[in-house]
Amino acid sequence: MTRSQHQPAMPEQVLAHLDIQPAGTYVDMTVGGGGHAELILEASAPGGRLLGIDRDEQALDMARRRLARFGDRVQLFRQRFSELAQVLAEAQIERVDGILIDTGISMDQMLDLERGFSFASASSLDMRMDRRQALTAYEVVNNYSQQQLYDVLRVTGRGREARKVAARIVSFREGSGPIQSTAQLAELIAATVSRPGRGKQRNPAARWLMAIRVAVNDELAELRRGLQTAAEALQPATGRLVVLTWAGHEHRLARQELRRLSNPCTCPPALPCVCGKQPLVELAVRKALSPERAEVQRSPQMRSCRLHAVRALGEDERQTHGDHEIATSKGSDRE
Ligand SMILES: C[S@@+](CC[C@H](N)C(=O)[O-])C[C@H]1O[C@@H](n2cnc3c(N)ncnc32)[C@H](O)[C@@H]1O
Repeated sequence: MTRSQHQPAMPEQVLAHLDIQPAGTYVDMTVGGGGHAELILEASAPGGRLLGIDRDEQALDMARRRLARFGDRVQLFRQRFSELAQVLAEAQIERVDGILIDTGISMDQMLDLERGFSFASASSLDMRMDRRQALTAYEVVNNYSQQQLYDVLRVTGRGREARKVAARIVSFREGSGPIQSTAQLAELIAATVSRPGRGKQRNPAARWLMAIRVAVNDELAELRRGLQTAAEALQPATGRLVVLTWAGHEHRLARQELRRLSNPCTCPPALPCVCGKQPLVELAVRKALSPERAEVQRSPQMRSCRLHAVRALGEDERQTHGDHEIATSKGSDRE
């Protein structure tokens, strides 16, 4: 499709790339408030089945209410998505037709100021998706060493500024005591870093708060493991995996991992393969899809959304796909 042709909005693209079938079995690994899950259940009526996973109990409560009308076509699990294998074992399912991962946090989580995800949160420095876990943003911000903070911050930010922010946090807490809320932290960071250019993120603290959220929830490791376990759970030859990412570090990680899963061969590209590693999937879109301008105008938060999609290979296809093609391709690696 050329850029000038009309492209469906992201939710329709998700359904199209999942290739929803009336009696299919699907997993929404980040069910959140149940928006995508509802669309999948409607599109797979009357026989489609959906397993919804979320590590946040409040999100699951919302999904439970929203999806109640689908009865036993839905099962919800409070789990990390890296634990997909356990969920499938519990549901007595071996392989599924489609899996969706929609990374990060939802608007509901962001807007709940008690959760501490937003720079407007004046009462809390929490940021846990799963409130049973011990590690909070308070612990990261107030007890990590300057080097540890730098390692956390550079995931979403430039190295030199990450160093400045880490140093400022440490000097503040040494002089004035612990930082108590996300709002207080955001103010401190905003006074430390340069403001983003026009048309970029409006709050200069946003990317640094996101880095702390990523650390608190171990999001990079979760996504890496989640992609692997999802690829392994797909029905050979037909199963589809769709991933929505919302920030630079997520776009890069999803792209790298999906490429690795589609071409795990570690042999030098010019030589025949001797490592024997076979691909699980093939890329269904070579360069992640972005929403069209009209969709971004309607919903500005869609601006940063990217859609990645792969199809599971059949047993016979795996032999013929380890061909170094993707490892040597150039040009689409950067955004
Ligand atoms: C962007 S929201 C998903 C919104 C959902 N697609 C919808 O339509 O309502 C991401 C959700 O995934 C959950 N989540 C993020 N990482 C997770 C993980 N590793 N395991 C389980 N749930 C996770 C968050 O708690 C949040 O509810």
